[in-house]
Amino acid sequence: MLALLCGSTHAIGRASAAVDDCGYPVVQVPAGCTGCHGAPPLNGKHGKHPANNRCYRCHGQVIDSSFTFLPTNLHNNGTIDYAVGCSSCHGWNQGVSPPQNLKGECGQGLDGVGAHKAMRMSATPVHQVACSNCHVVPLSTWAPGHIHDNGTAEVVFSGLAKAGGAQPVWNGTTCKNVYCHGATLKGGNYKEPAWKDTSGAASRCGACHSLADPDNNTAADCSTCHPGTVASDRSILPLGDHLNGVIDITGVQK
Ligand code: HEC
Ligand code: HEC
Ligand code: HEC
Ligand code: HEC
Ligand code: HEC
Ligand code: HEC
Repeated sequence: MLALLCGSTHAIGRASAAVDDCGYPVVQVPAGCTGCHGAPPLNGKHGKHPANNRCYRCHGQVIDSSFTFLPTNLHNNGTIDYAVGCSSCHGWNQGVSPPQNLKGECGQGLDGVGAHKAMRMSATPVHQVACSNCHVVPLSTWAPGHIHDNGTAEVVFSGLAKAGGAQPVWNGTTCKNVYCHGATLKGGNYKEPAWKDTSGAASRCGACHSLADPDNNTAADCSTCHPGTVASDRSILPLGDHLNGVIDITGVQK
């Protein structure tokens, strides 16, 4: 993914400024900016312009986070100057990837924010799920198929989401038949997680599969037969075998 933009260094310098829910300085577009173009405009040459007030994040060579035009004198020079990386439109102050939605917001429960943060940032057992499991990932901003006029993201499952022959389905609210959420496994009490559920229910033991060994012993020490996955207190081993696409068993004769 691409590096942070030069414009953001101005923001980092303003340590005392209030920050928005993506962790960036709160910005207020000055009056008078809409005389010649929208602030932000609705459209650019490639389609919809980001509905996002943090001009400096993408036009950092032109303007800073307090809407002061920089001495580069690139404003109103006949050329549209921008420098965008994936993080400009999708990132937040802790990384290049969503929670930021297409309106530039990161607050939990908002459209488009969903479970991105939980799945991308969380420790085990939810793990750091790659974008490619749920979307076609563009190689660059203007790659064909990336930004369309419809302004919504396409969910296209692949990889781990479809392991074991699972056929995941996204209906706009919940996912079902996802390998990661136990589609191919016995038991589990929350296998069709709601995208905007922030309760943590989808990442609890028992959500995706039963907590019993083959003899239906729920008190079993899982680590005796699954030592690469869990410790004896059932905590998931970091970088271990959990959620790697196969059921890992060691030393069991069943
Ligand atoms: C998240 C990134 C991002 C933010 C934030 C952003 N812009 Fe842009 N802006 C762009 C990109 C990318 C283009 C080029 C768009 C294209 O070619 O379709 C652009 C193009 C423009 C254009 C030219 C539009 C045209 O008619 O071709 C103007 C004017 C503009 N931005 C103003 C602003 C203002 C004012 C703000 C803040 C209120 C702002 N932008 C915030 C990314 C951003
Ligand atoms: C007198 C007309 C005019 C006014 C008023 C104006 N702009 Fe612009 N702005 C332009 C033009 C024309 C462009 C198209 C790109 C260019 O020529 O630099 C532009 C482009 C931009 C861009 C895209 C980056 C760039 O320069 O290419 C940003 C960001 C921007 N304006 C911010 C603002 C802000 C913030 C204000 C209010 C403080 C403002 N503009 C007021 C004429 C204006
Ligand atoms: C586990 C599946 C999953 C993963 C992993 C995932 N996404 Fe998403 N993404 C979704 C779903 C579901 C939506 C909601 C689509 C909708 O509203 O129709 C979404 C929406 C989006 C949106 C649109 C946001 C909006 O405002 O509507 C963007 C942009 C996006 N994802 C980018 C990414 C990027 C970049 C990554 C990796 C860093 C990623 N996603 C990882 C499932 C995922
Ligand atoms: C100028 C803003 C902008 C930049 C920069 C940008 N994206 Fe996007 N991205 C969007 C928009 C808008 C969508 C919603 C898709 C649509 O419009 O159809 C999107 C959607 C996505 C999705 C969801 C799948 C899809 O295509 O719908 C992924 C994944 C994604 N972007 C990854 C990236 C990556 C990786 C980069 C850097 C190489 C990047 N984006 C740079 C605006 C941007
Ligand atoms: C005595 C050994 C043993 C113990 C203890 C054990 N397992 Fe297993 N586990 C197995 C074997 C063998 C399989 C594969 C055969 C099967 O699915 O019945 C398996 C399969 C699984 C599966 C895949 C089930 C499916 O639907 O395909 C999960 C999930 C699992 N174990 C979780 C656990 C958890 C959680 C614990 C602790 C509560 C645990 N196991 C304790 C031996 C054990
Ligand atoms: C988001 C769904 C999900 C949650 C939550 C979850 N698991 Fe799993 N678990 C899986 C999947 C899917 C497998 C299937 C094997 C694989 O891909 O590694 C699995 C397999 C296992 C296995 C079998 C060994 C292995 O790695 O194949 C054990 C043991 C296990 N999980 C323990 C736990 C424990 C303990 C918790 C709670 C700390 C937990 N799981 C929470 C999805 C989940």
